[in-house]
Amino acid sequence: MDSVKALQKEIRKLAQERNAVILSHNYQISEIQEIADYVGDSFGLSRQAQKVDADIILFCGVWFMAEIAAILNPQKRVLIPEPKARCPMAAQLSAKQIREAKAKYPGVPVVLYVNTTAEAKAEADVTCTSSNLCQIINQLEGDTVILGPDANLAYYAQKTCGKQVIPIPKHGFCHVHVTFSFSPELPQLLWENPDALFLVHPECGPKIQELADYIGSTSQMIKYARDSPADTFIIATEVDLVTRMRREIPGKTFIPALSHARCKAMKKITLEKVKASLLEGQHVVTVSEPIAKRARSALQRMLDLTQ
Ligand code: 13P
Ligand code: SF4
Repeated sequence: MDSVKALQKEIRKLAQERNAVILSHNYQISEIQEIADYVGDSFGLSRQAQKVDADIILFCGVWFMAEIAAILNPQKRVLIPEPKARCPMAAQLSAKQIREAKAKYPGVPVVLYVNTTAEAKAEADVTCTSSNLCQIINQLEGDTVILGPDANLAYYAQKTCGKQVIPIPKHGFCHVHVTFSFSPELPQLLWENPDALFLVHPECGPKIQELADYIGSTSQMIKYARDSPADTFIIATEVDLVTRMRREIPGKTFIPALSHARCKAMKKITLEKVKASLLEGQHVVTVSEPIAKRARSALQRMLDLTQ
């Protein structure tokens, strides 16, 4: 047995002994996805986190995702193997900026992407993910919403959801997804593969969104590729979604739109750190109850409004 397989086996055994459930985002490395009890997108992970019955939720993803698990399931102990695994986009919108926007646009609902801090969520009317954006927005009162922090997601919402969208901040972005807009190789790749379908995450820039055959969350892209009669797909999102697609949909071809589109924050989680986390009960994710209570209400509203 090779050393990775041996380590994976040890982790599974430890998880069972500690009564821990391992949740993994689609951008985790294959070796981690393989040992998880559930792998999914931000929305799927939020639903799973709320349902978990085990004593411990071990979260393989970025901090805001583990924080959502702690908010939605406060009776459980939530662990993250590396507390420095933080989405830079979540730091682009503060609670203060949201309060200023609410004062400027009184009565306009605030919809927050889950890629935000707990303090920011506490100021929101409702949260959303890339999988339920229009569903959420279209169930709110009025014809305008405030949406942050991703300006590309706001562009997508404005184009597809049929409401006015005020982005906060003006130019929030994911550094991984904006790189597709500046890639000189991508037009060539699309040109060389005219029969391939182009699947795009809504965090990509407008130019890339315009070229897409399908726009959706990471798990929605997997479903689309599985159900589609096409057999070749070019994928514009983080590269480890492509490794999951190749592993789980054999017989179809998946080409990353950029082979170096890596989220460094997600890659801070390693098998060694997962093992240490289970052994030492580290690092515990907590959110103070006054903040958690308000953030929970925005998250719960999202869960209630999503079919
Ligand atoms: P998904 O909800 O589509 O998995 O996206 C999360 C994310 O961080 C995208 O960069
Ligand atoms: Fe954040 Fe972008 Fe990484 Fe997603 S891919 S976690 S938005 S930095």
